[in-house]
Amino acid sequence: MSQYQIALVVGSLRRDSFNRKLANALVAMAPPELSFKDIRIDDLPLYNQDDDSSPADQVKRLKAEITASQGLLFVTPEYNRSIPGVLKNAIDHASRPYGQSAWEAKPAGVMGASVGAPGTSMAQQHLRNILAYLDVPTLGQPEVFIHVKDGLVDEGGNIANADTKAFLQAWMNRYVAWVKKLAE
Ligand SMILES: Cc1cc2nc3c(=O)[nH]c(=O)nc-3n(C[C@H](O)[C@H](O)[C@H](O)COP(=O)(O)O)c2cc1C
Repeated sequence: MSQYQIALVVGSLRRDSFNRKLANALVAMAPPELSFKDIRIDDLPLYNQDDDSSPADQVKRLKAEITASQGLLFVTPEYNRSIPGVLKNAIDHASRPYGQSAWEAKPAGVMGASVGAPGTSMAQQHLRNILAYLDVPTLGQPEVFIHVKDGLVDEGGNIANADTKAFLQAWMNRYVAWVKKLAE
């Protein structure tokens, strides 16, 4: 029985996204107390402060889904050493109007996969900086920088490499305990 809803935010819109596959594999590793709400970010308008007083329905949906969640999980690629614009757009939307951010105090896990050797480390650092400003606590350790080489998942959608799989399971166990602790 699910007790904690986690808002899952994937920073890639790509059809065959590694980060989407990583997110799906991670969701399968979670215990039954956690349910995941896939947060849609591909249909949001470009953020414009003029619209703060009359947000689009997609923006209202975004904020409602985050507000209803007890935790956040960001799984994002690195674009030009930062986070993708679509992800920043979503973060900005749900942070406004000023004083009415939906993100505040929601505990967040941060991870990502990229084909570059740094494994999204620089994007994650930027993301952590943004989240710190938004008063979102982030799980510091272990850091998860996935360098995609020979295929991330097997045909069943599970993490292919046994060591990576065990590492991610340990991450999930720690994340769950942390979310529960902050929810007390
Ligand atoms: C606009 C753009 C910028 C990118 N910049 C980086 C980068 O800074 N570091 C990196 O490791 N990979 C970079 N890549 C390659 C991504 O790691 C690769 O496209 C990856 O598959 C994206 O994740 P996804 O499969 O979840 O879409 C970039 C790709 C694009 C399209």
